[in-house]
Amino acid sequence: MSVRPARFITLEGVDGSGKSTQSRLLKDALEAEGYEVLLTREPGGSKGAEEIRTLVLEGEPDRWSAETEILLFTAARRDHLERTIEPALAAGKVVLCDRFVDSTRVYQGISRGDLRSTVDQLHALMIGCEADLTLLFDMDPSTGLSRAKARQTSEERFEDFGLELQVKMRAGFLELAKAEPERFAVIDASQNIDTVASDTLKALKAVL
Ligand code: TYD
Repeated sequence: MSVRPARFITLEGVDGSGKSTQSRLLKDALEAEGYEVLLTREPGGSKGAEEIRTLVLEGEPDRWSAETEILLFTAARRDHLERTIEPALAAGKVVLCDRFVDSTRVYQGISRGDLRSTVDQLHALMIGCEADLTLLFDMDPSTGLSRAKARQTSEERFEDFGLELQVKMRAGFLELAKAEPERFAVIDASQNIDTVASDTLKALKAVL
């Protein structure tokens, strides 16, 4: 059990799983109850990390090797942690972070060979913290992918890896949740938006 109330909350899931919409709903719900909330995202969330975001999310799928990506995502995360997350936690805010290291564990750790231990070693060396609670938005990746592609942004490098990879990602996230049931709450993200929002709030209230 954590000695302080849970404040650092991460949201994870495959592309198009609805976590970004849910993070905004969650922020509004918590603020309505008087919590001070910072909503942030990865890759990004600080000036330097947003610059790295453009490097990793745009361009051809083979633009970077998985190893180079691990370094780029971890560099972005370190900047985000120092400049955005830690100051907000120190100020007593609830931090809602749309993706964190579990995305690196899954996307870079299993998508192109087994690099999970590289991800974990670099994480231990450079980041060294985990969320108090991770909300995993679980759904069939084919639905998620068609939603994600419908958005038509230039940030489609990972969506362009295709369905087969997204299926692997979903399984990877579920495996992480199984290995750390105390940290994870798995939300059925295939339900309607209001039901997902109420399940999400319930899971969070259990630890706040
Ligand atoms: P995001 O903007 O959250 O996209 P979505 O709203 O579709 O979930 O994330 C952008 C992409 O970055 C997503 O395809 C996953 C990928 N990603 C990684 O590969 N590794 C990481 O460590 C992170 C944080 C994201």
